[in-house]
Amino acid sequence: DLTRDFLEKMPKAELHVHIEGTLEPKLKLELAERNHVELAQKTIEEVKATLQYDNLADFLAVYYEAMQVLQTKQDFYDLAMAYLKKAAKNNVRHVEMFFDPQAHESRGIRFETVLNGLYQATVDARALNVDAHLVMCFLRDYSRNNAQKTLEKALQHQDKILGIGLDSDEHNNPPMKFYYQFAKAGEAGFHITAHADVDQVDSIVHIKDLLEVINAERIDHGTNIVENENLVAFAAKQKVGFTSCPLSNGFLSPDLKGNEVKYLLEQGVRVCLNSDDPAYFGGYITDNYEAEVEKYNLSADEVKALAANSFKMSWISEEQKQFYL
Ligand code: ADE
Ligand code: ZN
Repeated sequence: DLTRDFLEKMPKAELHVHIEGTLEPKLKLELAERNHVELAQKTIEEVKATLQYDNLADFLAVYYEAMQVLQTKQDFYDLAMAYLKKAAKNNVRHVEMFFDPQAHESRGIRFETVLNGLYQATVDARALNVDAHLVMCFLRDYSRNNAQKTLEKALQHQDKILGIGLDSDEHNNPPMKFYYQFAKAGEAGFHITAHADVDQVDSIVHIKDLLEVINAERIDHGTNIVENENLVAFAAKQKVGFTSCPLSNGFLSPDLKGNEVKYLLEQGVRVCLNSDDPAYFGGYITDNYEAEVEKYNLSADEVKALAANSFKMSWISEEQKQFYL
């Protein structure tokens, strides 16, 4: 049955994890010391006490504040390796990790410092039996111009970046703001995904535009699609994947959205479970499966379908998928 041990050992892919969201309090303090950054918090308990938010904007403020400790290529490497070791322990065999270069460039850190540190970790993760890839996100609360410049940098490093995503503060920042950048990214051969966070103002409009206009291959969170049955049918037909993050949902919305996940499975929509920002929302991928199983009484078939979907929705070759499925 669906014990913790079973859920941990079950092979999975993780498709929605922000590498900056894996910065644990202990590593935050270590990097602050290494880089001589004066933090307001001096102990792990004090850092943990900052992890309080019940909406996206308040969460993002804490998430961005912590990033000041990330300065060198080595810091980004250490951050990613710490996550990848946890991924290996959770039997995550394939991971597509988000990173937010604009959040670092705005603090004076070079794009290449961020990318090269993270990329080296993905190379070294092969020794852990984890197939790791990078997905670059545009910060949607930054300007279109800034996204365009960031896309141009990504185009110079296409060998290291698998896809393009969209994250940060969604309010008044619809995906259509970046219509042109997504079109260019798609033309260049990048895979495309975008956040439509849970219970946002205009969630359903954002989801509709991602499906019908931007042609996103995946939608991150996106479970508000259940509000429109025509869109649900369209997403099923087009095999668009939804990356739900139960523990994150529990912080930023009234519940973990397990009923939405069950409904989408029933409707034949591809959906899987992920950790989003595990250092901020109380757990890694197995913790997310465990919470969903317990709170919504998921069946073994549902759990297996979610894990199978994580590979089906991933951006690996069809040949490679056969190996996992
Ligand atoms: N950046 C990091 N985590 C995020 C989330 N859950 N939603 C939007 N932007 C994010
Ligand atoms: Zn996210």
